[in-house]
Amino acid sequence: MFKLFNIFKLMIRIILNDLNGLNILNDFSILNGGIMNQVYVEELGKHVGQTVTIKGWVYNNRSSGKLQFVLVRDGTGIVQCTAYKPDVPEEVFERAKHLTQETSVIIVGAVKEDSRAPGGYEIGLQELTVVGESIDYPITPKEHGTGFLMENRHLWLRSQKQWAVLRIRSQVVNAIRTFFDERGFVMFDTPIFTPAACEGTTTLFEVDYHEQKAYLAQSGQLYGEAGAMAFGKIYCFGPTFRAEKSKTRRHLMEFWMVEPEVAWAELDDVIQLAEDMTVYVIQRCLDRCKPELEILERDLSKLESIKPPFPRIRYEDAVIKLKELGEPMEWGEDFGSPHETALAAAYDRPVFVTHWPAQVKAFYMQPDPTDDRYVNCVDMLAPEGYGEIIGGSQRIHDPVLLEKKIEEHGLPKSAFEWYLDLRRFGTVPHGGFGLGVERTVSWICGIHHLREAIPFPRMLDTLYP
Ligand code: 4AD
Ligand code: MG
Repeated sequence: MFKLFNIFKLMIRIILNDLNGLNILNDFSILNGGIMNQVYVEELGKHVGQTVTIKGWVYNNRSSGKLQFVLVRDGTGIVQCTAYKPDVPEEVFERAKHLTQETSVIIVGAVKEDSRAPGGYEIGLQELTVVGESIDYPITPKEHGTGFLMENRHLWLRSQKQWAVLRIRSQVVNAIRTFFDERGFVMFDTPIFTPAACEGTTTLFEVDYHEQKAYLAQSGQLYGEAGAMAFGKIYCFGPTFRAEKSKTRRHLMEFWMVEPEVAWAELDDVIQLAEDMTVYVIQRCLDRCKPELEILERDLSKLESIKPPFPRIRYEDAVIKLKELGEPMEWGEDFGSPHETALAAAYDRPVFVTHWPAQVKAFYMQPDPTDDRYVNCVDMLAPEGYGEIIGGSQRIHDPVLLEKKIEEHGLPKSAFEWYLDLRRFGTVPHGGFGLGVERTVSWICGIHHLREAIPFPRMLDTLYP
């Protein structure tokens, strides 16, 4: 019965389509072949001289007399498909001529090398099937305001620049995982519903957890510490949540963070690990993302200069330096973004700012043994004004001191009993850091705002789509 209905529906479509001169297939049962018989644009080089099937979406379409140039994107790249009027059946040429932006199509044609075409290959179009129409696609090649683009984020993702950024993001995440996997770290997933704060109580998202208060995780670190005591070296990698009431270009409500945690590690070990990882990630992007970086018009020399060792400066010296740089601040304050930008601008690679005053940092940080106004912690500031992308520290390993800090910070001790247990049963020095994925991706891509570095950004005023 159902089958009969489908056949009937298909007949109606064919009749209708014949009327308006298009050939639209909305019954996918006759698009058999799935992805088995298609070639992806990124692999065209292997198929020069062959006739291939490309499945994708119309990126652009322009005519030049007897020639029709259809740019088709398939997610892996864009290829120019050229229909030459004398070479193709009349109706195929007509169909090509009327293709609109983002129509989904199946194209059959011969691959040839053509240095003038984007990507270096061209397809001599022979057959063309329209699969899904696209009428009045809202995002045209003209300029649109960011508000409009954000509302259409689900479609904006198809644009070249967004495509490039998110491909780089994928590469960055993969590089980070590979870096840690190759060094024997165990991937250790931490919970998102948590009973207490990790990074201060002012940025907590509260949720109702079966009539009990819970919070969305600001960081996986505390759980990562339990993992480090079980596995030696771990990393967690997941979304984290901060209810920041700030609208800056560097803050998201939901962002992704990788957090390695290492038993027996002291501050210098944490800094070394952060440096090695950063160099590895940048190198990976330079090795594998050149086409994407080119689309973004990224100045590659800025990334190529990211070589170890990175400079290190203590907070107290940074305060003095900031005064010299014309961006003065009081001892004991946190950096604002003008301070981060000014200090970072003094270097051509990331800079580690170490030993911050305890009063501006989290409760769990190990005091500096030489001066307990400071803690053994580190922030890594990216060059070119991208701000703090890594925050890390050595953790307090003394149970008595930790209990005192929990009290001083007004945190509920009962929620931290398990965390204190890590010190009660075989405590060891340990430490780690967190790297924000979106800030890293923004820096590598050279984009201004974090909102473009994640598929669907969550910001103070953005929850849709
Ligand atoms: O400095 P943070 O708050 O450190 C922690 O959460 C530690 N528990 C990490 C650890 O030691 N395991 O955050 C770490 C990084 C920042 O340097 C920044 O890159 C990013 O997370 N980050 C944000 N990214 C986007 N939007 C926000 N609101 C962010 N807050 C922090
Ligand atoms: Mg921080």
